[in-house]
Amino acid sequence: MTVRPAAPGGAARPAPHVLVVLGATGDLARRKLLPGLFRLFRLDLLPARFRIVCSGRTAPEDEETFLRGVRASVEAFRGTLDDTAWREFAARITFAATDGDGGATLRKAVAAALQDVGDDASCLFYLAVPPSATEAVVRLLGTFEVTAPRKVVLEKPFGTDLESARRLNATLHEVFEERQIYRIDHFLGKEAVQNILAVRFANGVLHPVWNHQHVCYVQIDVPEQIDIQGRADFMESTGTFRDMIATHLFQLLAFVALDPPARMDGDSLHHEMAKVFRALRPPDPDRVVLGQYEGYRDEAGVDAASTVETFVAMEVYVDDWTWIGVPFHLRTGKALAEGRRTITIGFKEPPLKVFPGDVDDTCNELVLELTDDPRIFADVRAKVPGPDFVLGRGRMRLDLLDAFPEAQPLEAYERLLLDVMRGDSTLFTSTEEIELLWELFDPLLRDPPEPRRYPRGSWGPAEALRIPGERGWRLPDS
Ligand code: BG6
Repeated sequence: MTVRPAAPGGAARPAPHVLVVLGATGDLARRKLLPGLFRLFRLDLLPARFRIVCSGRTAPEDEETFLRGVRASVEAFRGTLDDTAWREFAARITFAATDGDGGATLRKAVAAALQDVGDDASCLFYLAVPPSATEAVVRLLGTFEVTAPRKVVLEKPFGTDLESARRLNATLHEVFEERQIYRIDHFLGKEAVQNILAVRFANGVLHPVWNHQHVCYVQIDVPEQIDIQGRADFMESTGTFRDMIATHLFQLLAFVALDPPARMDGDSLHHEMAKVFRALRPPDPDRVVLGQYEGYRDEAGVDAASTVETFVAMEVYVDDWTWIGVPFHLRTGKALAEGRRTITIGFKEPPLKVFPGDVDDTCNELVLELTDDPRIFADVRAKVPGPDFVLGRGRMRLDLLDAFPEAQPLEAYERLLLDVMRGDSTLFTSTEEIELLWELFDPLLRDPPEPRRYPRGSWGPAEALRIPGERGWRLPDS
């Protein structure tokens, strides 16, 4: 990521673009992409010259109906909008269906938009389509004769195992060069996640203790309160391991475990992330617990005998000089007691216990809350004021919204869309990383443990509570 100094005149706008959203009538486009593009427009962060070509399998009644739908989504997810701004934005949107004519209508619409924007336009294809459609859409794009510089953005899962990931990568490479491919993991677009890098590498205080000599465990805990919310098709074909663990949680793990990159740019960061993935020990199936919430099989569209997991807890080791022997405990699942994204770094005890009395085990942890109002705190032992030397739990905290009240955070998709337009691949996943991860997961996923039932609103199956050993999970922390 190019680390830009704060510019008094605002951030630089990307060069002219035609943005082609494939799957524009789907959930992702409706909830994130189109509202996100509108917000970037309002913040003057879209190019001065741009067009948006929306595309779906079937055409809406007419373009006006489609635009009314887009407006409703933008309002639903971004609040009431300014009429003039909306009209200016909407005037740059067209719709083209992809069904039935071998892509001819879409091809024509893209060519017209490129002509409108001018010779210096780049063409960005965003594939917001179901995973099963990705390869066909990539092949269709291969038939487009676009001479403008091209980029393609893909959503996870990038394959469902090593073989399908390699096949997908091969198809992509028939049409695009690696530097034109942007694989989105929206967790990396979250302010709080990027802040892991800032806190680790912009301060001298943490680096010396960020290793196995001082850290005795790491927990990456992403429980979700929501259930599958009607996404039965997606969950039945993907499962929580591929949806969350193989993607978001391992990306977080890499951000925690990577060695300092020589520079904060895409190549240096991906080099360090790939080193972490290469050092991962194949997971021990006895240290992986899969779960399925009670009632999942009754959800509409779910197989009554489904063995798909909606929960995973596991232990992982990074066998390198920095992390040897430190367990990383990962947990995520649907229909759990709380929705959180919490990374906990547990530090070793001081070598000598000089204070009498009980020691609170959780008082030696650095905690990163990756919420929309990111917080970082360290729970430390301190003397309780008073006549006796009694230890209590104190908290040093950094509340990012308080620290930077004027800041205008971007939502993850907004940030990542902007990065793609700027040609900055730092927060996107490379082919190498994807294939290294599938190599690691393949044996486990070929013969996965049986999912255990867990009640809705709980913290998962009892077996998972035991994964971190006696100390247990930090959450719940109240
Ligand atoms: C998505 C997963 O990638 O991330 C969902 O497909 C999950 O299953 C979601 O709920 C969580 O993301 P966020 O940003 O809402 O925490």
